[in-house]
Amino acid sequence: MIRNLWYAVLESSEVKDGIVGVTRLGERLVFWRDRQGAVHCFYDRCAHRGASLAGGRHHGDAIACPFHGLQYDASGRCVKIPANGKNTPVPERFRMRSYPTHEAHGIIWIWWGENPPQDLAPPSFFDDLTHFTHWKTVRDPWDNHYTRVLENQLDVVHLPFVHHNTIGRGNRTLVEGPGLEWKHDIMFYHYTYNKIDDGSKPRTPQEVPVPPPDRDFKLETILPNLWQNYISKKLRVLGIFVPVDETHTILYLRLYQDFVRLPVLRQLVDWLMCRFNLIVAHQDRRVVNTQLPKGDGTGTGELLIQGDYPIMEFRKKRLELKRRNEQP
Ligand code: FES
Ligand SMILES: [Fe+2]
Repeated sequence: MIRNLWYAVLESSEVKDGIVGVTRLGERLVFWRDRQGAVHCFYDRCAHRGASLAGGRHHGDAIACPFHGLQYDASGRCVKIPANGKNTPVPERFRMRSYPTHEAHGIIWIWWGENPPQDLAPPSFFDDLTHFTHWKTVRDPWDNHYTRVLENQLDVVHLPFVHHNTIGRGNRTLVEGPGLEWKHDIMFYHYTYNKIDDGSKPRTPQEVPVPPPDRDFKLETILPNLWQNYISKKLRVLGIFVPVDETHTILYLRLYQDFVRLPVLRQLVDWLMCRFNLIVAHQDRRVVNTQLPKGDGTGTGELLIQGDYPIMEFRKKRLELKRRNEQP
């Protein structure tokens, strides 16, 4: 996991009135909302004796630990130690470690690092996905590092094998390209050019046209953990690859569709399409859960081939971010 980056970690609907404890990025975290509805995140270890604040109580714009009632404000500062009496000042060192949060598009991000910069910019999102007002999400647990799960979405070589009876039908085993284009520092598009093996030598990523002249369809990735399948103007699949720890991920698969608007029919279509997406995802999951070593695959001696170009670019950028963001 790379420090000092925004990670999408929850959906807004998962943090309502309560104090919600989850494991993310290998840490126990707690999320809660103040009276204005703004969401806050603490590393979930009470400064007093280490208990979890999940299941604690709100006190105005502070929350209290369920063990001995210490109260913390949104910045993580302890504002009350009941046992010391209300007129005893609270020492400065009583603090919860907090992470900056950002909430938009029904997603909660945390900036996972220490000492956030004063001018911290909000996380990137897909600017061609902001006009949808409706979506349906399914959550799916996987047993591997989130990059393994995301890299599977960058893997165009597996399609005719893992998905031979669904999205990879047609025996298009020859992988041309894949085409790839960086849109900005942490976002790129990639394009598939798979075809039936006609004996030709596959064109390289540099030889295929980017973008392809004849189609809208593209796959978009924003590091560290967002991906969009741009199927058409009115139909998208968003993948949020939420890191639980080094070997566990929750895949949030979100369907956006705008071609059926009648409420009952829409529900049915959403349900059917989510079912199909899950069937496809489970074809992947069966294999990705077996990948060794469990954890980040970078630098583990994998022998990548030309068709793995999007995975190479993703890994190269992660290494660059790691070097850049984790400098002392
Ligand atoms: S452990 Fe939280 S108040 Fe004592
Ligand atoms: Fe797949």
